[in-house]
Amino acid sequence: MSSASPGWLKALVLHGPNLNLLGQREPNVYGSVTLDEIDRLIDREARTLQVKVSCFQSNSEGGLVDAIQQAWGQYDGLLINPAAYTHTSVALRDAIAAVKIPTVEVHLSNIHQREAFRHHSYIAPVAVGQISGFGYYSYILGLHALTRHLRDRQSPKSERPE
Ligand code: DQA
Repeated sequence: MSSASPGWLKALVLHGPNLNLLGQREPNVYGSVTLDEIDRLIDREARTLQVKVSCFQSNSEGGLVDAIQQAWGQYDGLLINPAAYTHTSVALRDAIAAVKIPTVEVHLSNIHQREAFRHHSYIAPVAVGQISGFGYYSYILGLHALTRHLRDRQSPKSERPE
């Protein structure tokens, strides 16, 4: 579909509100790694998986909806940490459902261990899956899961592990 070069996949990484403050923001909850460092780690891992990634952060719901709409036909997969919009945004959920780009939802913290209002995700029902609680490594796990899902779709094999 929209691969950068033969064999390569294209993935869009989206970070929601307040994630630009990572490193300073509640480090006891979110860790001390900054968003720039996370983007670099994702990019490094992505190259080993033959995935070309673009990373984008927005504090605004509309900015994220626009980015998802613009990804239509341009990206094979979406890796998203919707941050607080996870728990509030029908608009983000509808955008993901509209573009039908396979999406993996990630969270640094374990949202199911935290306040009750964080337990519900509007995104999870339209995502391939959700990874939560591994700090910055949630993104790396999410990238692997997304890549595996996309490659399996390209050439479906038995789901038995090799
Ligand atoms: C978060 C969890 C959300 O509940 C919170 O609003 C965030 C970050 C996480 O990565 O752990 O901003 O998505």
